[in-house]
Amino acid sequence: MPEPAWPPAGCALVTGGSRGIGAAIAAGLAADGWPVAVNYNAGAQAAAEVVAAIEAAGGRAVAVQGDVADRAAVDPVFHYAESELGGPVLALVNNAGITRDNLTPSLSDGEWEAVIDTNLTGAFRFTRRALKGMMRARVGRIVNIASVTGLRANPGQANYGAAKAGLIQFTRTAAVEVARRGVTVNAVAPGFIVTDMTQELIGPDLLAAIPAKRAGTAAEVAACVRFLVSQQASYVTGAVLAVDGGLGA
Ligand SMILES: NC(=O)c1ccc[n+]([C@@H]2O[C@H](COP(=O)([O-])OP(=O)(O)OC[C@H]3O[C@@H](n4cnc5c(N)ncnc54)[C@H](OP(=O)(O)O)[C@@H]3O)[C@@H](O)[C@H]2O)c1
Repeated sequence: MPEPAWPPAGCALVTGGSRGIGAAIAAGLAADGWPVAVNYNAGAQAAAEVVAAIEAAGGRAVAVQGDVADRAAVDPVFHYAESELGGPVLALVNNAGITRDNLTPSLSDGEWEAVIDTNLTGAFRFTRRALKGMMRARVGRIVNIASVTGLRANPGQANYGAAKAGLIQFTRTAAVEVARRGVTVNAVAPGFIVTDMTQELIGPDLLAAIPAKRAGTAAEVAACVRFLVSQQASYVTGAVLAVDGGLGA
């Protein structure tokens, strides 16, 4: 049987693609031949720099503003990405995420809601929207960026841990619902990765607790996402791939 063309005739959308892990994923998918929509919320300049770097490397990308926690942002983000890049979103990486850390007795409603709305509900709404085009095309790749904190407890992150654990079970459930349509849904669970999110957290005690004795890089997470988005990963679905130097093992 001849190999179908890959990437398929569509585009990739990376939420929170303007910095950190998302920026590395956007660059990696562009290098794999995907036209990439780089979503951001507040960092227009950072997103423009990611797009410029992709174009300088010979790829295609556009920046698209949209708060993933805002239900009204979903359709405009998809419409802009699909009209600018000329095809349906056939690879979606739900990467946008925030932390609002506090111990549970002190955790405010606002801190709880902000993290759940961004890290979990946003991923649900973007996935639901992307599945329309993917199921029509009978091909698609969705990768949700979870966390080791969705698998084991981290004090001060009840909101974040609940969101990431929810994201993992959402991933598994969506995966079995759409598997027969050629769409895969997987999660990547990073441990401690050097980005803006973690720069104040990573110190000697933390590094000592990681079996690999170092933090990871955004490129190491992006490499796993690139695999899950690739044609070679067509039979991998509902999986949670830890990228954590052995922290969760
Ligand atoms: N770093 C780690 O060690 C680690 C470990 C496990 C999991 N993760 C997960 O990996 C993902 C990326 O983390 P990171 O460390 O790369 O974070 P980061 O450096 O803080 O970057 C976060 C990205 O998300 C975007 N974003 C935040 N809120 C958004 C919203 N409401 N709508 C759209 N975009 C939004 C930001 O864009 P703006 O600047 O425009 O807001 C930025 O591009 C997150 O889901 C995080 O939970 C990270």
